[in-house]
Parts: sequence; structure tokens; C-alpha cells
Amino acid sequence: MKKLVDKLERERTLSRREFKDLIDGRQEEGLAPYLFQRACVVRQQLYGREVYMRGLIEFTNYCRNDCLYCGIRNSNRQADRYRLSKEQILDCCRQGHELGFRTFVLQGGEDPYFTDERLAEIVREIHGRHPDCAITLSVGERSRESYRLLFEAGAERYLLRHETANQEHYDLLHPASMSLRERLQCLYELKEIGYQVGCGFMVGSPGQTTDCLVDDLLFIKELTPQMVGIGPFIPHKDTPLAGEPAGTLEATLFLLGMLRLLDPALLLPATTALGTIHPQGRELGVQAGANVVMPNLSPVGVREKYLLYDNKICTGDEAAECRHCMQNRMRGIGYDVVVSRGDCAGFIQNTLTGREQANPEEQEESYV
Ligand code: 5AD
Ligand code: FES
Repeated sequence: MKKLVDKLERERTLSRREFKDLIDGRQEEGLAPYLFQRACVVRQQLYGREVYMRGLIEFTNYCRNDCLYCGIRNSNRQADRYRLSKEQILDCCRQGHELGFRTFVLQGGEDPYFTDERLAEIVREIHGRHPDCAITLSVGERSRESYRLLFEAGAERYLLRHETANQEHYDLLHPASMSLRERLQCLYELKEIGYQVGCGFMVGSPGQTTDCLVDDLLFIKELTPQMVGIGPFIPHKDTPLAGEPAGTLEATLFLLGMLRLLDPALLLPATTALGTIHPQGRELGVQAGANVVMPNLSPVGVREKYLLYDNKICTGDEAAECRHCMQNRMRGIGYDVVVSRGDCAGFIQNTLTGREQANPEEQEESYV
């Protein structure tokens, strides 16, 4: 099996058969530690000991969609719905900026209230107030026109998990009104428009087979996104999948390791879901190959309401607490948290303005 890890590292891909053998054989003695070690070596070459920190703002839990796994699905009448006002969102960004964040991730359900005009206005406003920050959107499926408008307003990254690249599995997890084809189409459109794109999937979702995971890896290889978000499936009590078992820490970590070797430059978050199924889930995620963490910047008053799954962590913690907690966690395992935009645009900008040379202290500042 270690041969397959070596081959994946060398060639950055495997055949369908080999991917399957590696995933199915992952519990072989010593294999996972070996994979994690290689993943860390590969990440170290590109990113050193740096872990990027993004501020997550969950700005609406209204959703027109009805994904069977999700706690904020339209059919869940138990969900206590909220949406943040533009002022509240801007306030989160201001607070986040003071805490050092230079990337904001605006995530929400597919809320029809946020028309192109409303959302573009918010993006423009954040962009205007914080021109040194990257704006990431994660608001589901929209039209190509809408994606273009938001891009022009200043959003440059977009997260849209594909959820599963296997047709049958996709249909099992989603209502008949949704289709995998449209989902993938959105991802290709986002890419075409010029967004840095993130896709992703849940590990251990009901009905997921090894073949589904292989489909995910092959799809990621084809799409070549900048980011891939994966986390364990965790049942939510008020969804049709309430009684299903959660995905495991072990399988999620193994896939993180594989993804790092598949694409060494990938931005790979150690997700909140991973931190939810194990107290050290996010640390273990980084040690398996992840290099991004996304602490929550949402106002504490709404955190209990953005519940995609049960027992979500950090719902009672202020933005500053999460930020420092995360920094301490990463320091605890020997990594430096970096709040910069984390791409060459920021680097080029600094170089052009001569900031790095003029003020070396400032660069220090970003390693907080
Ligand atoms: N368990 C884990 N992850 C979930 N998501 C939605 N519901 C759940 C759940 N029950 C993930 C989906 C979605 C992302 C925002 O959260 O993959 O794309
Ligand atoms: Fe939120 Fe630790 S990251 S409390």
C-alpha cells in the first residue's frame, strides 16, 4: 500500500482501481501515518509551517433548497431562521479586520432575499471599506449572470461543494429538483468567470461507497479547484438522515492526506465538522495535510441558529475567542497562523507598494 502512496506523491494521481485499493486498504498497519508524513512533507515544501486563517460569516440560514442532510433545509420547520443586515455583516468584517483577518467568507443558505442587487451591494461595500481583503462567497447555486455580477462587485473566491460526484449518490442526498449536472456546471462557470474556486464533499454521508469517493477524487483532479472543503457527515436531528451514522475522523483524515498529494498547492481546510466529531479534529486535520482554518466571525446571537448538523462547536464563542483559540491550537502543534490573503495577489500588491521592504515589522504583523 505504501507503494500507492509513493505513486500518488510522484504522479499526483492514480488509476480508479488504485485509488479504490488505497482507500479500502487505509487501515493497514502504519499506512495512515505514512500518508500523513508524506502529505506534511509535500505541504511543507510549498507552505512551510503556515496555516491560513479565514473569517467565516454565516449571514443567513434561510434556504430554498432541501438537501436531505442539512439542518437548514427548507423543510426543517424547527430551524429558527435569521438573516444579518448589511450593517451587521459590515460590522462583522470591521471586527474581523481589527482581529487581523484579511479574508472574509460570506456563507449562507440559498436565500432569495439576497438578490443579485442586494448581495452585490454588500460585496461592493466590504470591498470598498477593506480593499486589502479577499472576499469569498459561499451562497450556493446561482445563474452565470449572477456569478459574474458578484465577481465584478469584488468577490474573487467562491466555495460550492459538489457534495458527491457520483450521480446516484447525489440523487440519494438531494431532492429531485436538484441535479449533479447543474451543480458541476456552476463550478465550471465560476472558474470560467475567473473566481478561485472551492469544491468539496462530506465523508461518510449515507450511501457513500468507495467508488463515490474515487469519483470525487477524479472529479477534483479534472476541475483543479484552488480549494477543497471536506468534513465528516454529521446527522442533524430534524432531517430525514437523522438516524444515520456520522462519518469518521479516520476516513476524513485519510482523504485529507490523499488530497494533499493529489494537488500539493491545494487549500485544504480543517473544517468545523472535523472539530465537532473530535476535540482535536482540526489539529489532526492539519497534521494530516490541511492548511486552512476558518474560525467563526458571526455574531454570537445567531450562531446557535446556523446549525447544519448537531453539536456544532464554537456556537457560544465570540469572534475574538475563536480567533485566539485557533491560534493557540495551531501553535500547540507547531504551526503559525497567517491571516494574510494567502495568495500571490496580496504578495504582488505588497511588492508593488514596497510595503514589505519599507516596513519589515508589518510583515511580522501578519504572523499573529
Ligand atoms: N454534516 C456535515 N456537513 C454538512 N454540510 C451540510 N450538512 C451537513 C451535515 N449534516 C456541509 C455541506 C455543505 C457545507 C456548507 O456544509 O457539504 O456544502
Ligand atoms: Fe471557536 Fe476554538 S475556534 S472556540
